[in-house]
Amino acid sequence: MARLELRNITRRFGDFVAVDDVSLTIESGEFFTLLGPSGCGKTTILRMIAGFEFPDAGQILLDGIDLVGTPAEKRPVHTVFQSYALFPHLTVGENISFPLRMARHAAADIRQRLKEALEQVRLGGKAGKYPHELSGGEQQRVALARALINRPRLLLLDESLAALDAKLREEMQVELINLQREVGITFVFVTHAQVEALALSHRIAVMNQGKVEQVDEPARLYGFPRNRFVADFIGQITMIPAQVEESAHGHRRLVVDGLGEIVTPLPQGVVIGDKGVFAIRPEQVRIGVQAELAELKNHFTGEVHSLLYQGDVSVYRVRLPNGTMIEALLPNSAPGRAELFKVGAEIKVGWRHDAGVFLHE
Ligand SMILES: Nc1ncnc2c1ncn2[C@@H]1O[C@H](COP(=O)(O)OP(=O)(O)OP(=O)(O)O)[C@@H](O)[C@H]1O
Ligand SMILES: [Mg+2]
Repeated sequence: MARLELRNITRRFGDFVAVDDVSLTIESGEFFTLLGPSGCGKTTILRMIAGFEFPDAGQILLDGIDLVGTPAEKRPVHTVFQSYALFPHLTVGENISFPLRMARHAAADIRQRLKEALEQVRLGGKAGKYPHELSGGEQQRVALARALINRPRLLLLDESLAALDAKLREEMQVELINLQREVGITFVFVTHAQVEALALSHRIAVMNQGKVEQVDEPARLYGFPRNRFVADFIGQITMIPAQVEESAHGHRRLVVDGLGEIVTPLPQGVVIGDKGVFAIRPEQVRIGVQAELAELKNHFTGEVHSLLYQGDVSVYRVRLPNGTMIEALLPNSAPGRAELFKVGAEIKVGWRHDAGVFLHE
């Protein structure tokens, strides 16, 4: 049985539909992420799971039991908010053990569980410190320890890494993965940062305007986005208008105006006459001289339009003969060699027969 199931959940604010008929199934032990742009309804979903907000329609089931009528404080669910909401006048130890004291656990039990929780988040030496004496990452660990001490069946995390700087954020991502693995608690994580979602999650639900666009594992979302919204929201991608035509042998083939045929897998259900885009990731596009690309099924002549140096990689924008731009990513593995191809130079671009996807309009 699924740990959490949302069945056709809808939430309106006046005429505005913030969450629109969302159905999701989250398994026990899963690190599940709701990903989407600002205002797409992520926090509203978390608040309904936690019981701070109520659906206008649909059901929320935890371990198969409908949560309707169960007040927030009775739900075996804990939420960690972006601000961490630590009590400033309580020490780390008092903050973490707060839920146990509220639930009137015995003093010895509280001491034991606090000790375990402190070890779990590696804050053993900091029990007597106050929140303002801690770094952002340490504060997050306190918030996590406080959330975990009651052993909830579900941990909800709302943009909990958003306040941290890039370096610390990366460290906390690794910590969060390790912690989740160790404690085995089901996480529902909310973020609008796609890199974070890809790094952390077992599965991701991509949301847009209150609706779920696709639910999948990170690599599948990235490699096989179901539609243009998902393709565009996750990572970089070039989209070129294309249509499906009939080949001389009566097969389907993908054609780009002014460029010609593109060899790419066309999924079942795509039929002759379909219009849409050919979408390809920058790292799938190779650029170079003719000979280097000869073995690739797709190759075209282009002109280097611009170059974006990013330290580890450079992103080239290449103008194709029909005027469209395509991005190609090249690792800068040789030191001091950032610009392999000059702006304005004529070059070849190519990609494999199995690269890219066709997406309907
Ligand atoms: N109590 C409320 N009253 C009216 N509108 C609301 C209320 N709560 C949320 N909304 C609206 O519902 C939509 C979804 O809000 P929500 O907070 O779920 O977005 P989000 O995906 O978490 O966005 P962000 O990434 O910015 O946190 C927004 O347009 C928001 O303005
Ligand atoms: Mg939010």
